[in-house]
Amino acid sequence: MRAVVLERYGGPEVLAVREIPDLEPGVGEVRVKVAASALNRADTMQRRGIYPQPGPRPEYEIPGLEFGGTIDKIGPGVAGWQEGDRVCGLLGGGGYAEQVVIHERLLIRIPQALSFAEAAAIPEVFLTAYDALVEKAALRMGDVALIHAGGSGVGTAATQLAKAMGARTFVTVGSEEKARKARELGAGRAILYKSEAFDEVVLAETDGRGADVIIDFIGAPYLEPNLHAAAVEGRIVFVATMGGDKPQVPLGILMGKRLRLIGTVLRARPLEQKMLLTQRVNQQVMPLFAAGALRPVVDRVFALDQVADAHRYMEENRNFGKIVLSMS
Ligand SMILES: NC(=O)c1ccc[n+]([C@@H]2O[C@H](COP(=O)([O-])OP(=O)(O)OC[C@H]3O[C@@H](n4cnc5c(N)ncnc54)[C@H](OP(=O)(O)O)[C@@H]3O)[C@@H](O)[C@H]2O)c1
Repeated sequence: MRAVVLERYGGPEVLAVREIPDLEPGVGEVRVKVAASALNRADTMQRRGIYPQPGPRPEYEIPGLEFGGTIDKIGPGVAGWQEGDRVCGLLGGGGYAEQVVIHERLLIRIPQALSFAEAAAIPEVFLTAYDALVEKAALRMGDVALIHAGGSGVGTAATQLAKAMGARTFVTVGSEEKARKARELGAGRAILYKSEAFDEVVLAETDGRGADVIIDFIGAPYLEPNLHAAAVEGRIVFVATMGGDKPQVPLGILMGKRLRLIGTVLRARPLEQKMLLTQRVNQQVMPLFAAGALRPVVDRVFALDQVADAHRYMEENRNFGKIVLSMS
């Protein structure tokens, strides 16, 4: 099979498509013929050698945290899945390839109306957004949610989920075009963070109440304005630290508003936790795709051979939503 193998670390030019041996599913696993994978910001860090795949280094280091495709081989002990089933799912790595093997309990059935490219755009961002909003922040109907990086893959998923749960959403974005797209997705207000102070906007437009839930990707430079923008008893969830991870924390505001700061990562979690999260998403989130309340946001599809261009496109912050890699 063909796969993108990391033989060295560095810029997008290190991404090379290679022919490697086919995979065999183990006990409880299936093999999937991958039709599409999708990029995540973490892949660019792995490519640079600063975010390794959890566990021992595999013989072929292949980036890629998700896929959409068709089961083409069933391993021993698998129940409930058949060859030919259309599935997508979350991986610790290995997604930029024509085949993946995955435990059956990490599988998500692709809703009928969705293409493989759309399905590949679901797992990482919707699992992360669900985990952050529901499991970590306990978002409730009527809450005010502030979602940073509203044009990122995770941001586009969180915006839709928060709206579907009955929250009032604010997002921050870097351009007018992303603001327009974020509003189309359901953001009540898209804040242009380069020209507007997001904390002032949120406070002014909620009559001083602030945001009950904040999903943050930026880290250090946003901590103080996040604390300012938070409502009393607000929950701030840190999903990434794209702007730095060593903030000064004014503890007085934290105490005065009785705030909670919560960190989360998905990739390093034990398999059992990923299975549990996948099952919850299967039950609570996937029906919303079928009902039309959620949709995968695919910005652009690149062929596997164009993987370096796809990484450049992401690193130039040009995407709104997901960048997909097509295997065909
Ligand atoms: N904790 C977890 O389990 C988990 C899971 C998934 C992803 N993540 C992390 O979440 C972040 C978003 O991932 P993604 O794949 O959804 O991202 P993405 O699609 O690449 O989008 C990132 C966007 O963030 C905005 N941004 C704002 N400040 C930025 C800064 N200082 N540096 C770079 N971009 C900045 C940019 O949009 P503007 O033009 O609007 O500024 C950029 O397009 C990544 O850091 C990723 O590693 C964490």
